Amino acid sequence: MALADFPKDFLWGASTSAYQYEGAYNTDGKGLSVQDVATPPAGTADFKITSDGYHHYPEDISLYGEMNFKSYRFSIAWTRIYPNGAGEVNQAGLDYYQDVLDKLKAQHIEPVATLFHFDLPAALQKQGGWANRATIDAFVQYAKTVLDHFSPQITYYQTINEQNMLFAGMLAAALKGKMTLQEVAQANHNMFVAAAKVMIYAHAHHPEIKIGPAPNLVAVYPLTPRPEDALAANVYDSVRNLLFGDVTILGHYNHVAWHLFEQFHATPEIAADDMATIAAAHPDLLYFNYYNTETIRAAEPGSTLPFKKVINPFLDQTEFGWDLDPAGFRLTLRQLYDRYNLPMIITENGLGAHDTLTADGKVHDPYRIKYLNDHIYQMRLAIGEGIPVIGYHVWSAIDLVSTHEGFTKRYGFIYVDRGETNDSGTLKRYKKDSFDWYKDVIAHNGDNVTGPVKK
Ligand code: BG6
Repeated sequence: MALADFPKDFLWGASTSAYQYEGAYNTDGKGLSVQDVATPPAGTADFKITSDGYHHYPEDISLYGEMNFKSYRFSIAWTRIYPNGAGEVNQAGLDYYQDVLDKLKAQHIEPVATLFHFDLPAALQKQGGWANRATIDAFVQYAKTVLDHFSPQITYYQTINEQNMLFAGMLAAALKGKMTLQEVAQANHNMFVAAAKVMIYAHAHHPEIKIGPAPNLVAVYPLTPRPEDALAANVYDSVRNLLFGDVTILGHYNHVAWHLFEQFHATPEIAADDMATIAAAHPDLLYFNYYNTETIRAAEPGSTLPFKKVINPFLDQTEFGWDLDPAGFRLTLRQLYDRYNLPMIITENGLGAHDTLTADGKVHDPYRIKYLNDHIYQMRLAIGEGIPVIGYHVWSAIDLVSTHEGFTKRYGFIYVDRGETNDSGTLKRYKKDSFDWYKDVIAHNGDNVTGPVKK
């Protein structure tokens, strides 16, 4: 069977996020975010310097231009625009992103912007963060400022990056007694309302904008065909994945997830018009991040939760213990299109590894090339099945600080010379082997990706 072509205007690109890439955490009026005040895990870098993108973006965007990126997905730091989350606008923050947009335009690269990527202003966190409904208003005010200021320069927007991973992080905090389960459900609900209000505003005032959520969505396998495992996998899928697409796109909480909230006496308070607001938002696209599938078995009787996450015995893992499952990517695309019927843009997919800079300034990363090739191949098969995928962004465009592993775990096409902890190094940029490989994929519009790379 002949392989399908990628669409002519396919958005080949890669991603970064502000707090992991920019550094300059208190420069030009920027306020502190929750990331700036957090203590990083021992032995890993904090978020003060990161890749120092704030001072290197012209050079970095030239390199993206050299790879011929069609798009670049980045996030806007809320605290550069509103240092305290709300109140006075910081003009220097708007000017910074304007220059980023100018540089992208000069390279013919389409901006794909995320409004919120894990970096809530610390000032809002002090007042209860997302669990406080005032954060909804602050987010809407911030988003309106950005949308109004940059329109019509940015067409592609995501509201919230990986709300489901934030939810998982809050659940972990609740298990440590740092917040209640009800607060977790409330914070999560408030994010749905905030994102919906922003989507409604975008559609009403800037009709060219294509806006949607950016959850991390993955197919879930039961470990065995035992009905108990299938039931457990269904609960996990409903609360880990479907909850986030269902509320945002279909406008309602799915029954299984809601029932789980009820069992824990942790249903959110829903204000009178919240569900109508959510149902009126109508995302234009489903943006999502995919790294690996997950496998679930039923938990032992008496466990708090009915499911347990396990290693898939049929898959290899990365050196950081993440399952490798390119075929699961196609399955995920099928499931999401079946359920939500929206065009899709992949906002993150990539391999975190320990890369080594050789004495002659090279980074040989065949493992990353294999990972990306095999996922792009599965995406090509999915497009051949009629699934409307219109863009793909590798995580990450350039090395940046991982959420939990600092610079020990790198994802980029471009190596950044800096220490694994807080030693800034020279911050010099080096092209990895994957840089030339991806450049070639883009030059061929993906038609040179014809099968998996042999191990
Ligand atoms: C996604 C996030 O969860 O995965 C990114 O949106 C993150 O911010 C990426 O960096 C990879 O995860 P990690 O933990 O390896 O950095």
